[in-house]
Amino acid sequence: MEILKIENLSKIYGSGETAVRALDQVSFRVEKGEFVAIIGPSGSGKSTLLHILGGVDRPTSGKVLVDNTDIYALNETNLAIFRRRQIGLIYQFYNLIPVLNVEENITLPQLLDGQKVNQRQLQEIVEMLGLQNRMDHLPNQLSGGQQQRVSIGRALINKPALVLADEPTGNLDSKNSAEIVELLKMFNKTYHQTLIVITHDERIALQADRIIAIEDGRIAKDEVIRP
Ligand SMILES: Nc1ncnc2c1ncn2[C@@H]1O[C@H](COP(=O)(O)OP(=O)(O)O)[C@@H](O)[C@H]1O
Ligand SMILES: [Mg+2]
Repeated sequence: MEILKIENLSKIYGSGETAVRALDQVSFRVEKGEFVAIIGPSGSGKSTLLHILGGVDRPTSGKVLVDNTDIYALNETNLAIFRRRQIGLIYQFYNLIPVLNVEENITLPQLLDGQKVNQRQLQEIVEMLGLQNRMDHLPNQLSGGQQQRVSIGRALINKPALVLADEPTGNLDSKNSAEIVELLKMFNKTYHQTLIVITHDERIALQADRIIAIEDGRIAKDEVIRP
């Protein structure tokens, strides 16, 4: 089943002489449950692409269909709801809320969505992340690897259709990087969630089902490595 369809996506930042074409007519499709790695040089448009897929940044032209919903045809309110329920975003620098503890950071998307926290689901995720003894710690009381686990928990708590990670291991040592990738793969397999990861790390890219290489805002290569 197709979960994501991107059609002729372009993004131009600014206008006139200073305009930057960050994405140029990008099209591709992703099947439900696929693990896709996105690689490419710095400045090639990877983060721009991920933000547009996540409903965070509007394209200049083109379409993003998630589960057949044309997300940029939604009004702002419905786009925000869609984002909260269907998209899990993971960043290099975690983006946790410093004054909230681990449990509060993880459950924030459910609270923002007006849902009651599902304790059983929370426990399941927390145990998979190995954070059961850290629930009342604040982010600055955690290691980088632990903080990234919390951000994974927050991204997954609403069981989103799409999990998008922008250099999730870019700030971690190799041991922690390997653990974070194992966790992302485990969630990808357990919940059959679609996982799209931007990475500079070839070892990570080679664990994906498919590698898309971006250069100058275009798809330079799109290879299935694990059918
Ligand atoms: N908010 C912005 N305003 C202007 N230019 C931007 C903005 N964000 C990114 N760019 C430009 O768009 C291009 C692609 O950036 P980005 O998507 O961040 O690349 P990558 O993640 O591959 O390093 C770069 O030339 C960058 O300078
Ligand atoms: Mg980037």
